[in-house]
Amino acid sequence: MKLGRFITLEGCEGVGKSTNLRFVETLLAERQVDVVVTREPGGTELAENIRQLLLTKHHENITPEAELLLMFAARSQHIQHVILPALQRGAWVLCDRFTDATYAYQGGGRNMGTETIAWLEQTVQGDLRPDLTLLLDAPVETGMRRARNRGLLDRFESEQLDFFDRVREAYLQRAHLYPGRYAIIDAASPLSEVQRQIRKAIDDLYAR
Ligand code: TMP
Repeated sequence: MKLGRFITLEGCEGVGKSTNLRFVETLLAERQVDVVVTREPGGTELAENIRQLLLTKHHENITPEAELLLMFAARSQHIQHVILPALQRGAWVLCDRFTDATYAYQGGGRNMGTETIAWLEQTVQGDLRPDLTLLLDAPVETGMRRARNRGLLDRFESEQLDFFDRVREAYLQRAHLYPGRYAIIDAASPLSEVQRQIRKAIDDLYAR
């Protein structure tokens, strides 16, 4: 049984996820919501170790299948040890990326399609789906410029533009498939406008 609400934040590299994650946290604190802030891949000791494996560049090429399975291995630990216990005690969970990232990066970016991902999603998550997904959307070039300015690029950030074009496209397709759950935020607009749109999405969720 799920009591709390589950919010996820998604988007390509450099769209302002960290800044806006903190903003959502502030909005929830204003409403005195008990909130657990977490991230994927990661969120538990084991899942954070898997994150290191996934983000570090290795001499040995990671196959798309291994990458996909590692994402869901981390997710299973995270769900069982952090997300479900928090929701069951009535807390809200605010998660920096979740399974929509798998559909976008592995499904779109790595061209793996959706069938296997959907099977893993059902197996690992059962009925668990986010109540609200904030998709920070901006042209790929804008985000990549910001990501490059941050310094060293990880294994995903080092991908080429066409990879991120597919990631963005897959995110937008999912947003159109699930309009009731997704709020598309125009992350290329000024921060005040981005945060106005986010506040509205959170207010709408709160009113549901
Ligand atoms: P980030 O949390 O700093 O954005 O880094 C996580 C990276 O992992 C990011 O490049 C997206 C990628 N990722 C996937 O490819 N699939 C997933 O399911 C998740 C959660 C993240």
